[in-house]
Amino acid sequence: MSAHAEVLKDSRAATAFNVDRIREDFPILREKVHGKPLVYLDNAATSQKPKAVIDSLVDYYTHYNANVHRAVHLLSTRATAACDDSREKVRRFINAGSTNEIVFVRGTTEGLNLVAQTHGRQNIGPGDEVLISGLEHHSNIVPWQILCEEKQARLRVVHIDDRGVVPLDEFEKALHERTRLVAISHVSNALGTVNPLADMIKMAHRWNAPVVVDGAQAAPHMHVDVRALDADFYAFSGHKLFGPTGIGVLYGKEALFNAMPPFQGGGDMIRSVTFEKTTYNDLPYKFEAGTPDIAGIIGIGAAIDYVNDVGMDAIAAYEQELLEYATDAVSQLEGVRIIGTAPNKASVISFVVDNAHPHDVGTVLDREGIAVRTGHHCAQPVMDRFGIAATTRASLAFYNTREEVDALIAGIRRVQEFFS
Ligand SMILES: Cc1ncc(COP(=O)(O)O)c(C=O)c1O
Repeated sequence: MSAHAEVLKDSRAATAFNVDRIREDFPILREKVHGKPLVYLDNAATSQKPKAVIDSLVDYYTHYNANVHRAVHLLSTRATAACDDSREKVRRFINAGSTNEIVFVRGTTEGLNLVAQTHGRQNIGPGDEVLISGLEHHSNIVPWQILCEEKQARLRVVHIDDRGVVPLDEFEKALHERTRLVAISHVSNALGTVNPLADMIKMAHRWNAPVVVDGAQAAPHMHVDVRALDADFYAFSGHKLFGPTGIGVLYGKEALFNAMPPFQGGGDMIRSVTFEKTTYNDLPYKFEAGTPDIAGIIGIGAAIDYVNDVGMDAIAAYEQELLEYATDAVSQLEGVRIIGTAPNKASVISFVVDNAHPHDVGTVLDREGIAVRTGHHCAQPVMDRFGIAATTRASLAFYNTREEVDALIAGIRRVQEFFS
């Protein structure tokens, strides 16, 4: 498709997008906060749930609650089939080659820790390096720090520039024969920067370094194709993808998963147990010890169905347009500075207001019914890079509107009046 046809398709997708209709699917958006209509702009922390997801949980607990894999009775068979269906939905959603490559975990954090504690402990030794970027969420820093301390390995960081971009040439230069692993976010939660992941992965693979991707902020906003990216591991969270809390996904290439030791021991991850020796279950169950979050697995499947119905292309085009609208509007405010001005961004505007602490900004906005996040966003090194302690972060989802952005702008003006 030509670039022009691509743009036309995108603009048609954005115009055809019926946000009013979509908002009806999210019961919480009708809530009032301090007597004002809720304006929910904290989607990077967690997103709201469509009725279809809420109903899927109620349906499971009302009609077929049972443990999975352990019984021949009908309810257990139904629950097991629903979990299998969800795994297949996840596989298709990220275009993995096999459901053996889809492991259910609690969330992105657990997925990253799983890789660190299994693949990492097995493959990293003294003098080796793990490469991360200066953009990372604490979940994609601390597990590698723990690993490197234990193994006397080095955690190497590619720092970001003034726009919040990881310079590709710096990234490439930081790779070498001792780089055993690269851990990188697809999209930054603090700044919204979208990393050129496919290029980074290619560079890492030239040194045979597997790449672990923190996809927490990408999966809800853009097509993720783990095979096109050639990602070795890719983790994301259900609750940011309009699904329940407590469930997430770790994708891993089958050959890597097969070579890894188990993460936790317990029921379901075994084939046979004697006091002398335990043999482990096939993939993906080898990494799913204990009763899984059955409702969560069903819920994430319902969330993926919902997102697919709306259409990821339409979502991405609409959100991009809304982000541009919001960026323009915030940029025009005097005394407000946007932190994170990468040319390729998704969903997030972080900003600071002169003479007002972000927590005060958040509190004043809350009184207007506007939910934003304030603080370091679990990315303290990003804040350090910009010499600030915190920002106010508005993060968008496809159910947000221009009117809500206008309400945010009016709210910031009110903050400025208050603190002038
Ligand atoms: C970029 C990024 N990585 C990791 C996480 C951790 O996700 P979870 O708390 O769902 O495990 C988050 C959550 O905010 C995130 O934004």
